[in-house]
Order: sequence, then C-alpha cells, then structure tokens
Amino acid sequence: MKSLLTFNNVSKSFFTETGKTDVLSKISFTLHDDEIIAVIGPSGCGKSTILNLASALENQTSGEIKKDGKIGYMFQRDNLFMWRNVLDNIKLGLEISKTLNKENLDYIHSLINKYGLQDFAKYYPNELSGGMRQRVALIRTLALKPDVLLLDEPFSALDYQTRLFVLDDVYKIIKSEGKSAIIVTHDISEAISVADRVIVLSNRPCKIKKILDIKFDLENKRTPTATRNAKEFQQYFDLIYKELNAYETD
Ligand SMILES: Nc1ncnc2c1ncn2[C@@H]1O[C@H](COP(=O)(O)OP(=O)(O)OP(=O)(O)O)[C@@H](O)[C@H]1O
Ligand SMILES: [Mg+2]
Repeated sequence: MKSLLTFNNVSKSFFTETGKTDVLSKISFTLHDDEIIAVIGPSGCGKSTILNLASALENQTSGEIKKDGKIGYMFQRDNLFMWRNVLDNIKLGLEISKTLNKENLDYIHSLINKYGLQDFAKYYPNELSGGMRQRVALIRTLALKPDVLLLDEPFSALDYQTRLFVLDDVYKIIKSEGKSAIIVTHDISEAISVADRVIVLSNRPCKIKKILDIKFDLENKRTPTATRNAKEFQQYFDLIYKELNAYETD
C-alpha cells in the first residue's frame, strides 16, 4: 500500500490579536492509495483546518506532513466566482494550470451531464440552488483529476435523495478511478457509508479520539446505499455515536 498523505504529530495554533488558539493537537494518520477516510467531529473542532494543512493553504505549528500525488480540494463554502458562469467556473482550475485542452473539456462536459447541470452551463452562481452550486464546486475539483480528493462537507447542501445519489456516484468515481479521499462530514451515516476508516475527533483543541476500520461483508458490491442495509452498519453507528457523545466525561 502506498502512502499518499501522512500527518505525523501535527499541531496547529492560530495567533490573533485576542491571543493564541490551539486547534489541532498531535494529529497522526496516513491516507493510502485506494482509500477513503471520513473525518467526523464537533463543530469548530478543526476539521477544515486539517484539510487546509493537507493542501498546504496553512502551515502546521509543529509536526510533519508528507504528500505524494496531486491534491484536489473542495472547500466547505463553494467559492464560486459570481461573475463566471457554471462552465467558466468549472474550467477555472484547468485555465490556471494551463491544461485546458479538448480532452479535459470533453471530460468536464461529461461530468456536467452526469450531475444534471447540462441546462445550467451558462447560468451564474446566484441563479443556482445551494445543492447545484455544490455540484459545480465538486465538478470543478474532479476536473483537475487529482489523486487525492479533499472534500469538506461536500453534500451538506443537498437534499436527502440527491445526497444518496451523489454519494453513490462520488464513491463510484473515487473507487473506479483508484483515487483516495478525505471526506469531512457531520453525518455519522454518511461517514460509515463511504469510508474505509473513520477518524473521530474530540472538541477543540482537537485530538484523534478513535480511528475505526469500516468493513462490510459486501465485497465489490459495496456502495454507500448498500451499506445502510448491511448488518454491521448499526454497530458502527452506535460506536461512533458513543465516541461523539462522550466529550463531557473526558
Ligand atoms: N485563519 C484562522 N485564524 C484564526 N482562527 C482560525 C482560522 N481558521 C480557523 N480558525 C479557528 O480554528 C478553529 C477550528 O476551525 P475549523 O474551521 O477548522 O473547524 P471545523 O471543525 O471545520 O468547524 P465546522 O464544523 O463548523 O466547519 C475555530 O475555532 C476557528 O475559529
Ligand atoms: Mg469546517
């Protein structure tokens, strides 16, 4: 197994006028190829900060981060440009990296079709629903064909039905193209249904409370939707629920 991203005792503090905030405390984990890690933890504990460090938008205060491969990051807020239409927003990353060619453009159009946005390519972000904007942001990230996807609450603005569909779809893309991902979520079911491992975080300053291996007896029939009816699902749910609600007693 190849390591694509390793955090080794990584800590992060922010220094502002009002003082120092310790956000991450000695975080260690490894993301391997072909693996999906879900990160779950209370609001404000430092989940987005982990992705910001992984993508080198921020620097750690101490510890070591090792990387191998191209990283694609879908932010918690969609960060679409208001003055660019859907298609131009999606093309942006390829324009910046000067890799916009016919093949990439065809790939973008196939993604736009797949995600049901073909009639909206010329629309501007303020003409779209929250869920559609999230899909645009996701396509923009996928268009760069990254080895590692960092997805920060990628499905939170989607309604339940669309979320299940998109979750299955993104899972399929990640697995069939042999990519790896770290998915940040608030939703225990979502974490279990996509992840090979779930990292449960404590309150800020955030430490890793537990890393849980998720395995289903589904072999290559695993999809996020299929896991929800699997017998192991409820056990994993209870374990994570207990960890997340054990904060006060620590
Ligand atoms: N650039 C920054 N400067 C100062 N403080 C910051 C900065 N970025 C994040 N923080 C602080 O770090 C803490 C963790 O923030 P972060 O966004 O990582 O949490 P989160 O777990 O993603 O929260 P949420 O679940 O609400 O998305 C918060 O207290 C936040 O105020
Ligand atoms: Mg966040």
